Amino acid sequence: MPAGRTEVAKGALPSPFPEGWYFVASRQSLEKTKLIQKTWMGENIVIWSDESGNVCVAEAYCPHLGSNLGPAAGGCVRDGRLVCPFHGFEYNADGYCVDTPYAPAPPDMRLRVFETTEMVGLIFAWWGIGGRAPQWSLPAETPDQTGWSGTRIWTHRFPGHPQETTENAVDMAHLRYVHGYDSVGRVETIKVDGPRFESNFDFATTRRIAGVPFISLDLTAQADIFGLGYSYVDVREHSIGFDIRLWIMATPVDGTNIDMSVASQVREIRNPKRWLPGLGFLPRKLRAPIMNRIALYFQSRDVLQDVTIWSRKKSRLQPILSRSDGEIMAFRAYCAQFYPETPVAVGDGHRSATNRQPTAMEPTPAQPTTI
Ligand code: FES
Ligand SMILES: [Fe+2]
Repeated sequence: MPAGRTEVAKGALPSPFPEGWYFVASRQSLEKTKLIQKTWMGENIVIWSDESGNVCVAEAYCPHLGSNLGPAAGGCVRDGRLVCPFHGFEYNADGYCVDTPYAPAPPDMRLRVFETTEMVGLIFAWWGIGGRAPQWSLPAETPDQTGWSGTRIWTHRFPGHPQETTENAVDMAHLRYVHGYDSVGRVETIKVDGPRFESNFDFATTRRIAGVPFISLDLTAQADIFGLGYSYVDVREHSIGFDIRLWIMATPVDGTNIDMSVASQVREIRNPKRWLPGLGFLPRKLRAPIMNRIALYFQSRDVLQDVTIWSRKKSRLQPILSRSDGEIMAFRAYCAQFYPETPVAVGDGHRSATNRQPTAMEPTPAQPTTI
């Protein structure tokens, strides 16, 4: 096999760990627990913050003699430094060893750290193929928080892949079939600009509780995708007049499972065209937080409907598409940039989903739409 190439399994996507920014923890959970250890992108990592709030995400093994640095092994954060449980070496939030209990810190001793960025209390870290530095950034601007509720987060773990879950943003057909949405229609054609992918659509839905209609909604969703771990969705509801923001964050755990986290915010409703049942009787400052709970509840139900499919499916790298499914191939062409190492065909003739031409005997898949 030529150097620099990756063997892929039959029917599998090129890697369970595509390059990009992936959610690691919320600021709120970090402040509560001080030191978090988890498996992320197949790596055992620790996350902590110094006293100024600078976050460090690092491999959870000490460069000295290899101790695990997590709380279960005895690692702790003291005065904003991560302290190794084995010999007490101390690390600052840049990952450098700055002190030991019995000798000067070895020069340039440093943990293997991952670049981080933060938005509305959501902390992301960069996963670069071969450890390379960030190739692009998440949006630098934090959405305006005035009049918006705080951020709520819901997470669910299941066997899956972030490309399969993010592909939902262009799979218009499933919105009706899996989620029961009506009047699904694209607002504009999809747009691709490097790592950014935009997809807008209208839909209507009747939300039910225990099968009983709770409320009918008329919505426009604008999805702004940056890689396979970060999708930001602005949702405008027209019949009442309220706004929701969602961050959909698919994070590979161990090569099989992903953590799907959904964070949401709702804007305070000021002059509704009509009220949600019961909401008009609440004090104004409670309305947005309660709306946010309701919004996240329904959104998590939608995700669980998808999980039923996602966790049982296999990847079809050479799908046979209907005429209206063409955007799926445009999305896959966009995804190729997150696997910078070229996959090599193995198994029964797997080839890249993005450059393969159908043979004369095969049905012709829909062509990518013009973008
Ligand atoms: S292994 Fe961490 S200080 Fe020795
Ligand atoms: Fe879906």
